[in-house]
Amino acid sequence: MKPISVWVDEALKMANHQSMNGLQESLRSAAYTLSNRKGSGNEFTGWLDLPERITPSLRDEILLSAERLRNHSEYVVVVGIGGSYLGTRAVLEAVGRPLHHLDQDDSFPHILFAGHHLSATYHKELLRFLQNKDYALIVISKSGTTTEPAIAFRLLKQQLIEKYGEENTSTRIIAITDGEKGALRTMADSQGYTSFIVPDDVGGRYSVLSTVGLVPLATAGISIDELLQGAADMKKLIDKDPVENPAARYALARIAMYYSGKPVEILVNYEPGLTQLGEWWKQLFGESEGKQGKGIFPAAVSNTTDLHSMGQYIQDGLRILFETVISVENTDDELTIPYTTDDLDGLNYLAGRPLHEVNTIAEEATRQAHIDGGVPNIKITLPELNPYYLGQLIYLFEYACGLSAYMLNLNPFDQPGVEEYKTNMFRLLGKR
Ligand code: PA5
Repeated sequence: MKPISVWVDEALKMANHQSMNGLQESLRSAAYTLSNRKGSGNEFTGWLDLPERITPSLRDEILLSAERLRNHSEYVVVVGIGGSYLGTRAVLEAVGRPLHHLDQDDSFPHILFAGHHLSATYHKELLRFLQNKDYALIVISKSGTTTEPAIAFRLLKQQLIEKYGEENTSTRIIAITDGEKGALRTMADSQGYTSFIVPDDVGGRYSVLSTVGLVPLATAGISIDELLQGAADMKKLIDKDPVENPAARYALARIAMYYSGKPVEILVNYEPGLTQLGEWWKQLFGESEGKQGKGIFPAAVSNTTDLHSMGQYIQDGLRILFETVISVENTDDELTIPYTTDDLDGLNYLAGRPLHEVNTIAEEATRQAHIDGGVPNIKITLPELNPYYLGQLIYLFEYACGLSAYMLNLNPFDQPGVEEYKTNMFRLLGKR
């Protein structure tokens, strides 16, 4: 299967000359450091091997547990936050059917999310909605102690116990957490939940291809085999030449942009299903690079929707931006624009043309306008939007993120800044 392509020439033409000095060398050194696991944070580089670490027996166990949970329930609530939530939602929305949640006849359970914020309004409504529904929970927390999912889990579990009784509740819960530590591990072991381990050497934002993403995605009916195959194929390409591959090209272009006075990267999509991928990508790069007063600020837009809100700024505002466009080559070609005899809306000039073609032309027109407006453009082309190419893209972004953080002399795998708000919150809440 052909790989995702990354096109950086247009962006590099706009890089200033000085910014390119020594970049190839810096990329080479970062690639060596990452591939040989010799850099800072190297104890968290287990994600590099995730595709092959999912052994056939682990895969079968995941599929079996997913099927069991599915049989129990019309709805499955995935409880988690950050790296324990964003990847699942990104893949699900990218390759799931857009109006799946409204489709009563679907054979797969509807996936809902909880514990990704502290909104009382949301969680109250979720509990009300689920009151008379048949549902199950997948609770995910690597540490097993994060406040947001812990509160949501307590609320939902209590409702399950009221509905089904203590004993029958345990069979409706899958816990994904550390193998030994944390409150969730203690609960899983003492209550007899089916549980999976989050590997020690995989950090939250690099964990979507581990049990963290695979269990809920399999439950939703997404092919985890295709997802893993995509990631494995991208890994093979990177391993063959760690300096000349789509991920390395992307990392080099980003850092060239950064040193050319473009510290803000906007990830752009033209398929609304990719909006959540933008959220996952923001965490991956934001938490990995935003340190020591450095790092590219990751933003995301979903076009053509956001051309009608953010388009003005991107075209004409402060020239600190560069764009990375995710372009999907083939989507539905069958939906064409109908002809009408009165042509009251003046659209007959488009009659008979596929809607996808109009979207592609909008993408190309926008890209060119933004380049003309001084916004350098990187283009990542996916032949199709399916689990296989999502797997390739996830691995590409993870590897590129490790490379570019090392090129900025940062540890890509820690997040010291995230702890600050927690310390304040616990103090104000009076946690002992
Ligand atoms: O990337 C990270 O490490 C974080 O975003 C975590 O995933 C997030 O804070 C949730 O942590 P946990 O899985 O321990 O509940």
